[in-house]
Amino acid sequence: VSTLKGKHFISIDQLSNDELKGLLAASHQYKEIYSDKSKPLPRPLNGHSVSMIFQKRSTRTRVSTETGMSLLGGHALFLGPSDIQLGVNETMRDTASVLSRFNDIVLARVYAHADIIELAKYSSVPVINALSDLHHPLQTLADLMALQQHFGTDLTGKTVAWVGDGNNVLHDLMLGSVKMGMNVHIATPKGYEANADILAKTIELAKENNCQVVTSNVAEEAVKGADVVVTDTWVSMGQEEEYAKRVKEFEGYQVNTELMGKANPGAVFLHCLPRHPEEVTDEVIYSDASLVFPEAENRMWTVMAVMAAQMGKV
Ligand code: CP
Ligand code: NVA
Repeated sequence: VSTLKGKHFISIDQLSNDELKGLLAASHQYKEIYSDKSKPLPRPLNGHSVSMIFQKRSTRTRVSTETGMSLLGGHALFLGPSDIQLGVNETMRDTASVLSRFNDIVLARVYAHADIIELAKYSSVPVINALSDLHHPLQTLADLMALQQHFGTDLTGKTVAWVGDGNNVLHDLMLGSVKMGMNVHIATPKGYEANADILAKTIELAKENNCQVVTSNVAEEAVKGADVVVTDTWVSMGQEEEYAKRVKEFEGYQVNTELMGKANPGAVFLHCLPRHPEEVTDEVIYSDASLVFPEAENRMWTVMAVMAAQMGKV
């Protein structure tokens, strides 16, 4: 994945199929190398640093990046909403220009996707999108890695069903799935569909990769024929005041044992976490079909691969 050297990582859309598969291969390799702490660990990012801007909460993204960077021999700085001048006293542009002079990578979790674009425009070092209202590419890498661990490297012909909100996590997952040759079934309630431009792009890519994208407003239709069932919270960060309305409008979208029973035999379940009981039952999330904890662990192996690729080390 030497082609990713010096590049921003904004959405899965920007990756060629080979780059996507290459990042996944590097992630599996990192898991193997860095899980064994009895030997001296390679430090390819010795002397490097990543600043991590978080305008929203995070458990996985923050801890995986900070720990992953330290395993690679570098240093990570956590910059929460009240730690830096950004947003109160300073613009994204000036923040980008300054952080680029200290750090080798700038990772950011923001509300508006336009803020990531602005950051990338003015940063002279590679930027990583750690979640915006439109994209969550790091999550997709972890999800695809979990599917490869379960089904094997070649995911061609498998079917992924998304049941829930047409949100940031879905956007990259659908792009990534068709790049891996998987079919995508999407069920969202009326009014909560995926972004139309990103869906159109996914359909175009699906044609190139000989797979299908099917959308509906019925959860049962989406899971029919699916090997993977995926959901996410119905109420993303920043939408808290819509909680009551959303829970009402997402009725019938809970992933429970009955819904999983309508997918293919052996179907697995994914969720990026954190989760709430309304979108998935305990019975499903703690079942043998659930890959959610390996999926969470993979957030570290995959962000390590992204950072190392941006620094030209893989
Ligand atoms: N899945 C995910 O991005 O989790 P965090 O919000 O805890 O980082
Ligand atoms: N869709 C969720 C994902 C959290 C990791 C959100 O944007 O809050």
